[in-house]
Amino acid sequence: MSKKSQVFLIVIVAIASAALTALLVNIFEKKVESTQPWVRVVEVDENDTNPEKWKANWPKQYELYAKTAITTRTRFGGHGGSEALPEEKIDRDPWLKRMFLGYAFSIDYRDRRGHAYMLQDQENTERLSKPQSGSCLHCHASIMPLYRELGDGDAMKGFEKTYQYSYMDLNKKLHESGHAYPVSCVDCHNPDNMEIRVTRPGFIQGIQRLADSDAPVPHLPSIERWRQGSREKPYDPNMDASRTELRSYVCGQCHVEYYCSDKMKLTFPWGDGLRVENIEKFWDNTTFPDGKRFYDYKHKESGAEVLKAQHPEFELWSQGIHARSGVACADCHMPYMRDGATKISDHWVRSPLLNINRACQTCHHFSEEEIKARVDGIQQKNFELLQRAGTALMDQLDAIQAAQAQGANAEDLAESLEFQRKAQWRLDFIAAENSMGFHAPQEAARILGEAADYARQGQVKAINWKKD
Ligand code: HEC
Ligand code: HEC
Ligand code: HEC
Ligand code: HEC
Ligand code: HEC
Repeated sequence: MSKKSQVFLIVIVAIASAALTALLVNIFEKKVESTQPWVRVVEVDENDTNPEKWKANWPKQYELYAKTAITTRTRFGGHGGSEALPEEKIDRDPWLKRMFLGYAFSIDYRDRRGHAYMLQDQENTERLSKPQSGSCLHCHASIMPLYRELGDGDAMKGFEKTYQYSYMDLNKKLHESGHAYPVSCVDCHNPDNMEIRVTRPGFIQGIQRLADSDAPVPHLPSIERWRQGSREKPYDPNMDASRTELRSYVCGQCHVEYYCSDKMKLTFPWGDGLRVENIEKFWDNTTFPDGKRFYDYKHKESGAEVLKAQHPEFELWSQGIHARSGVACADCHMPYMRDGATKISDHWVRSPLLNINRACQTCHHFSEEEIKARVDGIQQKNFELLQRAGTALMDQLDAIQAAQAQGANAEDLAESLEFQRKAQWRLDFIAAENSMGFHAPQEAARILGEAADYARQGQVKAINWKKD
C-alpha cells in the first residue's frame, strides 16, 4: 500500500469510528431520555416534602397529582355530599352506625376523597372529639422527616415513639417542622433517581411479618423467593420486591387494615397471612400490655369486644384474579398516558371507572359500556349481599337486646357475643373496603356469606339463652 492510500485509510477509519461513536452516544442518550425523560432543574432530597419543589423537575406528574383536589364521583366511588364535607357514610347505611355504637366511627364516618385532602380531613373529623393517637399521621401526612427527627436520625425508632403522643401534640409538631403536607412525591420516590420505593415503617414491619409467616402469597413472588433463601436478612421490600410488586406496595403503605391507638404501636396485622380469617387470628392472639385480649371497642348495646376493620384494599386485592395475574394497583389507578413521545403515569389517583380507556381497555378489549356494566354487575351483587349481612347483624343485636331485657347477663350471652365479634369483623371488612367488592368479587361474597351466617347463629344463641 502506498503512503498516500495508507493515510487515506486512516482518515476513513477515523471518520467511521467517530461516526460510530456519535451514533452510539446518540442511541445511548435516546435510551437515557426514554427512561429518564426529565431535566433536573432543582435538587430534591429526603427532606423535601413540599411537592411544589419537585414541580420544576416533573411538571406533568405534579399537575396530575394536584388534580386529586378535584371532586370525583361514580356510583360507589369518590364522594357524595358537598365540597366542604363529603357525605356521612353512617347516615346512608343506618346499620353501619349501630354496628359502631361505642366507637368514634359512630360519631363521624364519611366518604373518602382525593389525596389532596387527607391531612385536612383528618384534622377536621369529629372522631378527634375522642382522644386519638399520633399513629394516625402515619398515613395522612408526609411524615418521614418528623420520624427521623424523633428517632435522632432513625425513622423506625422515631415511628415507634409516636403512638404515645396524642394526635394533637404530634400534629402540632408536624406543622412546626414544616412538613404538614399530604402524601408527597418523596413518600413513593427515591429523590436521587426517582425509582419507586416504600417509606412507611408500618408497612415495612407488616410485610416482614408476612414474609416470616408461611401464608401462601402466590401474587408476591419476591416473598416466596426470599423464603427459599438463607433468611439472614429480613425481607426488604425496597431491595427484594419487583417493580410490579412495588407498584402495589406503595399503596399498601396506607390502604390496609391496621391497629392505631395508644396501647401499642401502629400495627399491620399480617403475621398469619392476608385473608380475613388470618387477620382475625392475628388479632385474637394479640394481647395488650395489660394481658387482655385485643379488641378495638366494646359494643355499646351488647358489650361484645369487637374489632373495627379499616379499608383493607391491599388485603382484598391480594385475594383477587387481578393480583394473581400480576395486575398492580397502579395499573388501574395510575395508568400510563402519552405525553408527546413519552409515557407517564397518571398521578391523578382516583376511580378507574373515570378512566376506563386507559385503566382497563389496555388489557380488556370490550367497549367502555360493556366494561362498566361488568363492574356494575359485580358491585350491585356485592351491595345486595352487604345489605343482607347488615340486616342479619341488626337482627342479632335485637335478639341480644331482648335477652338482656329478660335478664340475660354477659356470661349468659357469651357465645352470642363471640358470634357478634366474628360476624361484625367480616361485615365491616367488606363495608370498609372501598371497591364495593370489585377487587376480589368471590372472596368478598364468601366473607359476606360467613358474616350473615355468624350473625344468624349468634341470633339463635341469644333467642335460646335460657335453654342453652
Ligand atoms: C383491575 C383494576 C384494579 C386494581 C388492580 C386495583 N383496583 Fe382499586 N378499584 C378498581 C375499581 C374498578 C374500583 C371501583 C371504583 C368505583 O366504584 O368507582 C376500585 C376502587 C378503589 C378505591 C375506591 C375508589 C374511589 O373512587 O372511591 C380505592 C381506594 C382503591 N380501589 C384502591 C386500590 C388499591 C390500594 C389497590 C392495590 C392494592 C387497588 N385498588 C387495585 C380497580 C382496581
Ligand atoms: C394505615 C393507614 C392509616 C392510618 C393509620 C389512619 N388512616 Fe385514616 N385513612 C386511611 C385511608 C387509606 C383512608 C381512605 C379510605 C377510606 O376512607 O376508607 C382514610 C380515611 C380517613 C378519613 C376520611 C374518611 C372518614 O373515615 O371519614 C378520616 C377522617 C381519617 N382517615 C381519619 C383518621 C384518624 C383519626 C386516624 C387515627 C385514629 C387515621 N385516620 C389513621 C389510612 C389511614
Ligand atoms: C400515605 C398514605 C396513602 C398512600 C401511600 C396512598 N393513599 Fe390513597 N388515600 C389515602 C387517604 C388518607 C385517602 C382519603 C383522603 C380523604 O378522604 O381525605 C386516600 C384516598 C384514595 C382514593 C379515593 C380518591 C377519591 O377521589 O375519592 C383512591 C382511589 C386511592 N386513595 C388510591 C390509592 C392508590 C392506588 C395508591 C397507590 C398508588 C394510594 N392511594 C396511596 C392514603 C394514602
Ligand atoms: C402514592 C405514590 C406516589 C406518589 C405520592 C407520587 N408518585 Fe410518582 N409514581 C408512582 C408510581 C407507582 C409510578 C410508576 C413507577 C414505575 O412503574 O416504575 C410513578 C412514576 C413517576 C415518574 C416516572 C415517570 C412516570 O410518570 O411514570 C415520575 C417522574 C414521578 N412519578 C414523579 C412524581 C412526582 C413529581 C410526584 C409528586 C408531585 C410523585 N411522582 C408522587 C407513585 C407515586
Ligand atoms: C394489566 C392487565 C389488566 C388490566 C389493566 C385490567 N385487567 Fe381485568 N383482568 C386481567 C386478567 C389477566 C384477568 C383474569 C382473566 C383472564 O386471564 O383473562 C382479568 C379479569 C377481569 C374480570 C373478571 C373477574 C373475575 O373475577 O373473574 C373483570 C370483570 C375485569 N378483569 C375487569 C377489569 C376492569 C374493570 C379493569 C379496569 C379498572 C381491568 N379489569 C383492568 C387483566 C387486566
